Amino acid sequence: MDAVNQPLHGGDLQRAVALYGGDLTDWIDCSSGIAPWAYPLPAVPDDVWQRLPDQDDALLKAAQNYYGCDQLLPLAGSQVAIALLPKLRAPCRIAIISPAYAEHHWQWQQAGHQVSAISSEQVDKCLENSSIDVLIVVNPNNPSGEQISATTLLAWHASLAKRGGWLVVDEAFADCCPENTLLPQAGLSGLIILRSIGKFFGLAGIRLGFIACEKPLLAEIKQALGPWHISGPAQWAGQIALSDKAWQAAQQQRLLANQEWMIAILSEAGLAPSGSLPLLHWCPTPNAKALHSQLAKHKIWCRLFQQNNHQGLRFGPVAEHQQALFKTRLWAALSNPTMVL
Ligand SMILES: Cc1ncc(COP(=O)(O)O)c(C=O)c1O
Repeated sequence: MDAVNQPLHGGDLQRAVALYGGDLTDWIDCSSGIAPWAYPLPAVPDDVWQRLPDQDDALLKAAQNYYGCDQLLPLAGSQVAIALLPKLRAPCRIAIISPAYAEHHWQWQQAGHQVSAISSEQVDKCLENSSIDVLIVVNPNNPSGEQISATTLLAWHASLAKRGGWLVVDEAFADCCPENTLLPQAGLSGLIILRSIGKFFGLAGIRLGFIACEKPLLAEIKQALGPWHISGPAQWAGQIALSDKAWQAAQQQRLLANQEWMIAILSEAGLAPSGSLPLLHWCPTPNAKALHSQLAKHKIWCRLFQQNNHQGLRFGPVAEHQQALFKTRLWAALSNPTMVL
């Protein structure tokens, strides 16, 4: 079992300021995988602030249409499910394809389960030995960008479900690369899928996400959450953003163009990503800690990962107005002769 400490998260610019100084506005923050172009919401109507937020059918319908899936429950961020799912099983054996968003490991560990970090190559062996009960896959992966095919995932799911196991697929980054989504299979026993509104829509602050799974589990989760678990403004905003197909298509284009730019700039600077998605770029290096600090001294805040034997830096998108400065600072930081990439 691998012990994991309480996870740090990207987007923690206050920590950058506390450690390295400056004002928040001095920094280029590419430490999270959140789109810098947020969905442009209109002003929230007064009644949305005032009314108690009943379960909103308009949000659910918009989500069912966007995701092409009926078996959904809205959550105040997919993080809610990440914290709740470990409490719905008796202590058992969990494997997480790693590196990965560290909250999965932490939450299952905190709930008393036996958690191991494995690679995707090790999954078949674990399933053959029946040595795991729950497999967690972030697909596409944050931070590595690895993508596992839907066919492979379904084979893993079949093997787990036979023994009452679960396959949890965290699709927080799947909006830009939906090829391998398992949402069309939602409803299969033991298959749990998580989606997030925060990343692609750039609306992490409203706290909205979804879980898709078989109906009895959806009902159990709904009951555990109780009434009013998503604010009225979040439901209202989610319904508008999920319904706006023209904006979604434009956002896809913006993110793909940004991905191309980020790969080119990082590669020119000697930090070619080994994996990349439109919202994140993964640069594994044994020198990650020193590089992170060096970049921070030049007011670039990226995300440092040090998970078991995975060391690396993850860069999120840099918006147009900061791109020239990002390039200058990146080169200045990496031109230090003591820097080994
Ligand atoms: C892979 C992954 N899953 C889930 C989450 C939680 O997202 P949210 O609660 O905003 O939906 C994050 C947040 O960074 C993430 O990176």
